[in-house]
Amino acid sequence: MKRILITGALGQIGSELTLKLRDIYGADNVIATDIKKNDSEAAQSGPFEVVDVTDLKRMGEVAQKYQVDTIMHLAALLSATAEAKPVFAWNLNMGGLLNALETAKELKAQFFTPSSIGAFGPTTPKDQTPQDTIMRPTTMYGVNKVAGELLADYYYHKYGVDTRGLRFPGLISYVALPGGGTTDYAVEIYYEALKNGRYTCYIDKGTYMDMMYMPDALNAIVDLMEADPSKLIHRNSFNVTAMSFDPEEIAASIKKHIPGFKLMYDVDPVRQQIAESWPNSIDATAAKEEWGFTFEYDLDKMTKDMIEKLKPKFQMKISS
Ligand SMILES: NC(=O)c1ccc[n+]([C@@H]2O[C@H](COP(=O)([O-])OP(=O)(O)OC[C@H]3O[C@@H](n4cnc5c(N)ncnc54)[C@H](O)[C@@H]3O)[C@@H](O)[C@H]2O)c1
Repeated sequence: MKRILITGALGQIGSELTLKLRDIYGADNVIATDIKKNDSEAAQSGPFEVVDVTDLKRMGEVAQKYQVDTIMHLAALLSATAEAKPVFAWNLNMGGLLNALETAKELKAQFFTPSSIGAFGPTTPKDQTPQDTIMRPTTMYGVNKVAGELLADYYYHKYGVDTRGLRFPGLISYVALPGGGTTDYAVEIYYEALKNGRYTCYIDKGTYMDMMYMPDALNAIVDLMEADPSKLIHRNSFNVTAMSFDPEEIAASIKKHIPGFKLMYDVDPVRQQIAESWPNSIDATAAKEEWGFTFEYDLDKMTKDMIEKLKPKFQMKISS
């Protein structure tokens, strides 16, 4: 990886991944793209181009202009939003992915795109979900992710494109807000705990889902992309996870820092149903064995860091 084009670079993952890759490979070697520009650090700290991923010609022109050797395709509609707009989601998630793979094929570029725990479904084994298992998701997002994994494998086998992917769990971060996923509650809860001392959760108690803190997710992307290809038995996509908890457990972790914190529930049936169709916990053995996946943050370590990092944001808002 020397010259990297990122799509959807101003979203929750991209706004941090862009900065991390610029630190490692140099600011000029990481080309951030998104459907529109904003004033975030990711858009301002190096090359930025407006690229709609449904426009193959434009994506190809930008990739050629910078002579990229790696494409990281992040632009997508997430699970809850995709369920509200399924046809739009299909066109964006599958059309965008196909265009990004075609661009990688033309430039002989290495390719990364995230899959998700959403690729699993109600008939998947729920606990310690294996790498290779039943994948019959019942959401449009899940259908897109399974089809996307297969399509990325197809480009590897048919055209030799070096495609690699991770099945991310819910990602928790403090830089950019999440964009309409089912696990967003696990980010919102920290913001509301600091702002109001209380949070009304749309996911029910006892609902376990896998999660990971953003610094571990970013390290996993870099490590997978740098991994020796001869060691990769799987490619699209690897199970990765750092923790599994329900709303009560994250609230208990927050109470260690904010003792008066109150958790209430107003369950959203759509997102609850999505959550119940996903695993309780997934098994990341293949990622550990094939490219040395590790993580640093468990729930309490992440909570401490989230609260430390978010506190100044709210103090600034209150005093300005
Ligand atoms: N965040 C998570 O918890 C999580 C978990 C599992 C998988 N993923 C996957 O990771 C990827 C990135 O997720 P994210 O959380 O950063 O998403 P996000 O919603 O925060 O960001 C998506 C970005 O894509 C951009 N975008 C939307 N339509 C576009 C278009 N037509 N052309 C170009 N850009 C467009 C948006 O402006 C946004 O900046 C997605 O494939 C998602 O499915 C995310």
